[in-house]
Amino acid sequence: MSAKELTGEPPLHVGVIMDGNGRWAKKRGLPRTAGHSKGAKVFKSIVEDFRALGVKYVTFYAFSTENWKRPKEEVNALMELLDKYLDDIRSMAQKNTRVFFAGDKSAFSEDMQRRMTDIEQVSENNDGLYICVALNYGGRDEIVRAAKSIASKYSSALDTVGEEEFGRELYTCFMPDVDLIIRTGGEQRLSNFLIWQSAYAELYFTDVLWPDFNRKELAAALDWYSQRNRRFGGV
Ligand code: FPP
Repeated sequence: MSAKELTGEPPLHVGVIMDGNGRWAKKRGLPRTAGHSKGAKVFKSIVEDFRALGVKYVTFYAFSTENWKRPKEEVNALMELLDKYLDDIRSMAQKNTRVFFAGDKSAFSEDMQRRMTDIEQVSENNDGLYICVALNYGGRDEIVRAAKSIASKYSSALDTVGEEEFGRELYTCFMPDVDLIIRTGGEQRLSNFLIWQSAYAELYFTDVLWPDFNRKELAAALDWYSQRNRRFGGV
């Protein structure tokens, strides 16, 4: 399967909510953390499928500002997994891929923060594929931060601030608005993900659990997207 085999043009920017890891594990009598481990493997391989299918920008929701509320053991396991996968993410950054992180890095260990910044720096001139990993990310938190930054930068000229200036203060300022959100796991909500950027996004919900998501499912989502009639408030 390649971009040529899709029924239409792929979206420019896709946001992915990787839901269903816990249920995938439970169905198999495994601890929830086993679902996250499988989910992380799927994350790694699906990046190559996005590349092959011709999508230029992808944002993955890996850990939200609300996920700290989970049991301590699960949060610790997710942190260990992220720590481990930072090396794989760094390898992604070597294939003309720009990788960066959306979210407040200060909650992570010094070592993780240093490695994240290193990944962003080594890949900042790459422009083949853009991968954004949302970590300790919340859409509302992002908007509040942007508002504060705007207020301090433009204190005497707030009247000149429009949507474009506001968008430049968001973590995702390197990327266009989101065209398509894919959420696995059967729930139909955004859960504080890219709430500004997805104002006109098409929303694709599938019952497939994230650890079972694959290239065929991705192609189905992209084909569904290409059938949508996008009007952006026009007719
Ligand atoms: C939601 O499933 C998933 C998460 C909160 C974590 C997502 C993380 C990964 C896929 C792995 C780590 C990613 C990287 C980038 C290495 P859930 O636990 O809420 O599932 P449930 O609804 O079935 O309980």
